[in-house]
Amino acid sequence: MDKIKIAIIGMGNRGRRYAYQIGQNPNAEITAVCEKNPAHLYAAAERYGVKKENAFLSDTEFFKRGKLADALVIATQDRDHYGHAIAALNAGYQLLLEKPVSPIPSECEEIAALAHEKNLQVVVCHVLRYSAFYDTIKRVIDSGAIGEILSINDIENVGYWHFSHSYVRGNWRNESETGPSILAKCCHDLDIIYYFSGKKCQEVFSSGSRKLFLRENAPDGATDYCLAPCPHRKTCAYDVKKIYYGITRHTIPKMGVHIKVITGMAKPKLKDLKEVLKTSPYGRCVYKCDNDVMENQNVALCLDGGVSANLTMTAFSRGCFRRLCISGTKGEIIGIDGEGKFRLNIFGGVSKTVKVSSGGIFGHLGGDRMIVSDFIEFLRTGIAPARLSAIDVTLESHRIAFAAEESRKTGKAVKLKVES
Ligand SMILES: NC(=O)c1ccc[n+]([C@@H]2O[C@H](COP(=O)([O-])OP(=O)(O)OC[C@H]3O[C@@H](n4cnc5c(N)ncnc54)[C@H](O)[C@@H]3O)[C@@H](O)[C@H]2O)c1
Repeated sequence: MDKIKIAIIGMGNRGRRYAYQIGQNPNAEITAVCEKNPAHLYAAAERYGVKKENAFLSDTEFFKRGKLADALVIATQDRDHYGHAIAALNAGYQLLLEKPVSPIPSECEEIAALAHEKNLQVVVCHVLRYSAFYDTIKRVIDSGAIGEILSINDIENVGYWHFSHSYVRGNWRNESETGPSILAKCCHDLDIIYYFSGKKCQEVFSSGSRKLFLRENAPDGATDYCLAPCPHRKTCAYDVKKIYYGITRHTIPKMGVHIKVITGMAKPKLKDLKEVLKTSPYGRCVYKCDNDVMENQNVALCLDGGVSANLTMTAFSRGCFRRLCISGTKGEIIGIDGEGKFRLNIFGGVSKTVKVSSGGIFGHLGGDRMIVSDFIEFLRTGIAPARLSAIDVTLESHRIAFAAEESRKTGKAVKLKVES
């Protein structure tokens, strides 16, 4: 059987990770790439052996050429997904689309409708489903071991250093440029709640706050950029050295992968990073940015059949992890993703630790690798795996995120339309 041909648009942080996974898969090959940054485009084209005429700096030129592969990975920024997805579906591509589908509700519905009309699949990158931790929990739930699910509690700890990078200085800091943090960060959690419970949401109440990353909290004499230099560098947890290149065990391995994003260079060196941080948005004082997304948010969900769920997102944790507690009629599951295990307690029965592969510190606990492999397998066989995060199931969790934002802004609970 011929290899599945895949094109990628957006060779940034996510696009490069998917490219790597596709490159590792014996059943697929990358045949076209589109990326507006020449350094990233040509580095990717060279690495994956993409023909020169199939490497595009312009999305218009890319789509003008028609269908260059069986499938397209869309890994551009949130507000570009709509235009790229519509053009791709019209060209006949199957899609692996980064989340969120779009920060605009009507655009999400339009993409889903066009996919149905064209009979094409849109798989959304809800990568957690594909990691061993969540996959194993889903199997335990489906086995009936904990009975009927009654409640799910999920605390998403974003990590103070990760939050400052993405939601204060970086790409997802300002709602008008991207979307609210409850969609950008927590659409994964809302998807997992729907995936595990199998219940649609009837009503949502949400509240949120911004307390720290505000101008009034800048210490006296703080400069606009850390490397100005700011007199508070030694004591500030958000100093660029501590976040991007100092020796701190919990930030360095993860933030290291963002150096290409910050510099825009294909092979940046430490001196390049330091130079760029003098004036880059990522070098700004965290108290003096144009951020407006929530730092903390709670979402209380009433699901079908009297099932309840609670989600808390907080910027303020040392690590970057989710703490889950799922209560059923016969037992409970308690765990922290990334620890490579969870606790399964059967009431009046066994209580045990279930070990799973931790999936490593990169790639969403192994989810990035498995979503690519499931997607390719699906294209090869036409058989959709049960965990496939297709657009219709994704829209369920996106609708909850939109309703949660409405609730947070109005202070009122919001009912969702439940289709019969
Ligand atoms: N699944 C997940 O868990 C997860 C995690 C992080 C980010 N994301 C999502 O993935 C997407 C990409 O995020 P990222 O971190 O890779 O961002 P990024 O900024 O690193 O990458 C986006 C890339 O798209 C390129 N680009 C922008 N407009 C383009 C155009 N018109 N034509 C061609 N290339 C264009 C940019 O130059 C950039 O290289 C976002 O939607 C984000 O929300 C998903």
